[in-house]
Amino acid sequence: MRGRRKSAGREPAATGSGSSGRTPLISGNWKMNHNHFEAIQTIQKLAYALNRDDYRHTDVSVHPPFTDLRSVQTVLQADDIPIALGAQDCHTADSGAFTGEVSAAMLAKLDVTYVIVGHSERRALFGESDELVNAKARAVLRHGMVPIVCVGETVDQRRAGQAHDVVAGQLAGSLDGLDAAVVGTLVVAYEPVWAIGTGETATPADAQDMCAHVRSQAADRWGSDAASALRIQYGGSVKPSNAPDLMEQPDIDGALVGGASLAAADFSRIVNYRLYAA
Ligand code: PGA
Repeated sequence: MRGRRKSAGREPAATGSGSSGRTPLISGNWKMNHNHFEAIQTIQKLAYALNRDDYRHTDVSVHPPFTDLRSVQTVLQADDIPIALGAQDCHTADSGAFTGEVSAAMLAKLDVTYVIVGHSERRALFGESDELVNAKARAVLRHGMVPIVCVGETVDQRRAGQAHDVVAGQLAGSLDGLDAAVVGTLVVAYEPVWAIGTGETATPADAQDMCAHVRSQAADRWGSDAASALRIQYGGSVKPSNAPDLMEQPDIDGALVGGASLAAADFSRIVNYRLYAA
């Protein structure tokens, strides 16, 4: 794979988000895949595939299932690997009688940095509302971690011309009541539901359009400083082949990657999207 890099050893070209002052964040959402043995293997392969230099321009996180977190944390720390540990969800309370749940406090103890909240699968399959997503984001923040707050419209909503309103509503509800200073530290992931796991990606122009919309909504509510600091990821069938064009867009500051994050070879190429740009 490395032999196919276009500019190996040279300074990569600046991209849209590179000139914004926002450091891109490429996150791998493993969903309910990889047991802890497979997780250890994957994170070791990923560390092997990435050079120290590769982390210079881009933050990287992996979000394994809860049962893998301790194993992955141990590998990352033992070898001082600059990949941030992430989780896929958490409960709103710090502890208590919530059988089967995991708290943000527990994740913070494992040195988790980023927690995905409000992923569309949780919204659709587990009935999560904006109100619940808001409470989860607050729990994550309370424990010094960064929420990755997911928003995105369904195909029916897009066809009905409601995509912008739906995304604006999810953003407002999920971040309701947060201070501008806090909003500037967050990550929002725009993931059109119709593009997740389907192989169908939003065009770079459509993805840019919605990410710009998220930023302008954020500016209206929390001011331009918060909006210009906010990192906005695109997610939905991101692959090594489409990552460079998506990441070139000025309002796209990273990617939330599902399927293509399960194999280290693919995910490392996405992390290194700059080296494969046309
Ligand atoms: P996908 O998933 O890359 O497999 O489409 C993205 C996500 O759900 O975060």
